[in-house]
Amino acid sequence: MLKIAVLVSGGGTNLQAIIDAIDNHKLTGVTIELVVSNKDDAYALTRANDHGITGICIRPKDYADKDAYGRYLAEFLKDHEIDLVVLAGFLVVLPECFIDEFENRIINIHPSLIPSFCGDGFYGLKVHEAALARGVKVTGATVHYVDKGCDTGPIIMQKAVYVEPGDTPEILQRRVMEQAEWVILPQAIQNIANRQIR
Ligand code: GRF
Repeated sequence: MLKIAVLVSGGGTNLQAIIDAIDNHKLTGVTIELVVSNKDDAYALTRANDHGITGICIRPKDYADKDAYGRYLAEFLKDHEIDLVVLAGFLVVLPECFIDEFENRIINIHPSLIPSFCGDGFYGLKVHEAALARGVKVTGATVHYVDKGCDTGPIIMQKAVYVEPGDTPEILQRRVMEQAEWVILPQAIQNIANRQIR
């Protein structure tokens, strides 16, 4: 059984997609042991608690510095025997000490087709604003391993989504979530659970 922790900062729709995939038996051999947020008002924590999943807030500002936060978070997840860390809308840049503890066992969902519209400053709506500003006809989402860079780890899975005439950043974000993010994140976790990916 693959034990996962999902790290969140906001609405938790990607977390919900994982929860639903498990409930609908589309994602098997996986349990969500923990949901951790850096923000105590993240609706993702409500989604977790509504589903009987331990949701906890661990705030960076409660620690001396980023490394202290990273060390505590790593120990906390190891104490819960977490096998895979899933970043799902998690907006804190994890320090190298955390990455080292979970090398090749952290994945992230990014709302573009990496290497487009990624890296420092590209998150949430900003990604879709940049895609629309560039005039791309196709965008999408990417699941990748997290390394010590920003959105630079090995790509696991991607799914393309058409940009439609008249799209606003909000409309495009929703389509990318519905048609790509919520599809490939559970699939990527399943592949890892099936040990299909090294
Ligand atoms: C999503 O667009 C996701 O791609 C990005 O954060 C946004 C919020 O996701 N990483 P969620 O609704 O909190 O899962």
